[in-house]
Amino acid sequence: MKQTMTAQASVNQAQGLSLRARATPVKVIAVASGKGGVGKTSVSVNVAMALAMAGREVVLLDADLGLANVDVQLGLQPTRNLSHLLAGECRIEDLVLRAPHGLKVIPATSGTRRMAQLGSAEYAGLITAFADYRDPVDVMVIDTAAGISDSVTVFSRAAQEVIVVVCDEPASITDAYALIKVLSREFGVERFRVVANMVRNETHGRKLFENILRVTDRFLQVVLDYAGAIPDDEFLKRAIRRQSAVVDTYPGARSAQALKALAQAAERWVSPAFGHGHLEFFAERRESAASALLGG
Ligand SMILES: Nc1ncnc2c1ncn2[C@@H]1O[C@H](COP(=O)(O)OP(=O)(O)OP(=O)(O)O)[C@@H](O)[C@H]1O
Ligand SMILES: [Mg+2]
Repeated sequence: MKQTMTAQASVNQAQGLSLRARATPVKVIAVASGKGGVGKTSVSVNVAMALAMAGREVVLLDADLGLANVDVQLGLQPTRNLSHLLAGECRIEDLVLRAPHGLKVIPATSGTRRMAQLGSAEYAGLITAFADYRDPVDVMVIDTAAGISDSVTVFSRAAQEVIVVVCDEPASITDAYALIKVLSREFGVERFRVVANMVRNETHGRKLFENILRVTDRFLQVVLDYAGAIPDDEFLKRAIRRQSAVVDTYPGARSAQALKALAQAAERWVSPAFGHGHLEFFAERRESAASALLGG
């Protein structure tokens, strides 16, 4: 009898934990850029790692579906990836890889053209699959692909925050503008957090931001927030060669300090309290947290 009660108690406790996990809203941050090679994966990996190092439950989703890089940057060896989830061959939990400091990584595929060209129902399937994910999550960071393809727009819209990474090259600025234009006009994204990457210093980063702000203020109805500058830093490259995050391997490096500051700032960002009525990651956790708050 005693054993049965203990078993029942642990079932109750497990259900309680699961309910609690589901009732905690998740901050979902997509990292995009328009132009390729400007530092999306580096920002995603390091912001996610910095938050994990600060004790948060963090999931890093590789949404560069056809040219996955996150697993390579972190030296992980996936055996299954999002294509297996789409094929119904596994659950999200089966995909999760453990990186240092408890960071959880959900890998994509590399060299599969089909994954880079999914239909809208398949994107929707991927996003809604997260409703079944039971583990606690405080933050999910999404590393998106270069360009303004459906995968970028769909994942960015399903997030609460969109970081736009730019560097000081004309094509980076025009492509960031094009991305912001498409996301705002066609997908209703109203606010963007701009990160200036590979800059000389803070002043250089702010100037870059102001260049973009000048054009968006003139032509688009969006809110652009300056989220900070990451210096061009040899230590970040060295960390990549060692397949690690610079915030972990060289925490004192200038880029690591800036990326940690970005992660801390991201925690303070106040995301919209209620959904926009379109597909969102973890919408059910936000809704149950809101109803718990209202006593529902
Ligand atoms: N702050 C930085 N300092 C020095 N080098 C950097 C910095 N950020 C990025 N890099 C360099 O730029 C390269 C590309 O970065 P990363 O892979 O993060 O870009 P990306 O935008 O994800 O690229 P893609 O569009 O191909 O996915 C890195 O391998 C690294 O060498
Ligand atoms: Mg990348």
